[in-house]
Amino acid sequence: MVTGGVRYDEIGRSYAVTRREDPRIAAPIWRALGAASTIVNVGAGTGNYEPPDRRVVAVEPSLEMIGQRAGRSHLVVRCGAELLPFRPGAFDAALAVLTLHHWRDAQAGLAEMRRVAERQVILYFEPLRTTGFWVLDYFTETADVPSEQNPPGESLISDQLDIQDIQIVEVPADCTDGFGAAYWSRPEAYLDPRVQAGMSWLALQPEAARRDGTERLARDLRSGRWDDLHGHLRTQRSYDGGYRLAIAGS
Ligand SMILES: C[S@@+](CC[C@H](N)C(=O)[O-])C[C@H]1O[C@@H](n2cnc3c(N)ncnc32)[C@H](O)[C@@H]1O
Repeated sequence: MVTGGVRYDEIGRSYAVTRREDPRIAAPIWRALGAASTIVNVGAGTGNYEPPDRRVVAVEPSLEMIGQRAGRSHLVVRCGAELLPFRPGAFDAALAVLTLHHWRDAQAGLAEMRRVAERQVILYFEPLRTTGFWVLDYFTETADVPSEQNPPGESLISDQLDIQDIQIVEVPADCTDGFGAAYWSRPEAYLDPRVQAGMSWLALQPEAARRDGTERLARDLRSGRWDDLHGHLRTQRSYDGGYRLAIAGS
């Protein structure tokens, strides 16, 4: 049974245009994988953050995303996280990057990651840490987007996994991976339809809400109001946008 992924068959068509692995975010992920030589990447999408020097099996429900895996592992299983078709302990590590909040049943998916691998490494956003981000003042219907309603954080992850460490992953000012908070110091980017299409929380907003937020941000940039309020961010080197790396298991 293929669960999830339908959403990304719709919103993921141009994913690879703006969503490109950033080496400064890859580094802590690969360190967290330790000596693992076999890895299952759950919610793998186009294959960002898959270490090139290990044997990686990608798990991904969306055909649109699988179709954009140029240069990544050819070992791909089309399914959802909630029911992984692998024997217990089949991999050294299970990886999940910026995908947990999309799963139909995050508890079940995490339990599956634990079943098939000794170690689990998860990059996620901590909902308690994202509320202060300025862009949310413009796109006010974000909390109603399905993947943003009650997104899983540390408390849910720790229900299923034996967490060893949680690291803050700061977003560099020139981050190359256009995820939700990637452009925290480059507000003009949030006006770009290609950037908006690469962020599920924006792509899934009703058209009118997205247009309204875009117009208000454009107006504040023109008038200088944005810079009055947040201009200090333009010279900051990195930002805590709420992204966390959980390392669990052994
Ligand atoms: C934001 S993308 C992240 C992709 C990739 N990990 C990356 O870092 O670029 C979220 C991915 O989760 C996948 N997804 C959605 N529901 C899922 C589920 N139930 N199980 C596994 N993956 C799922 C989507 O199809 C999409 O490819």
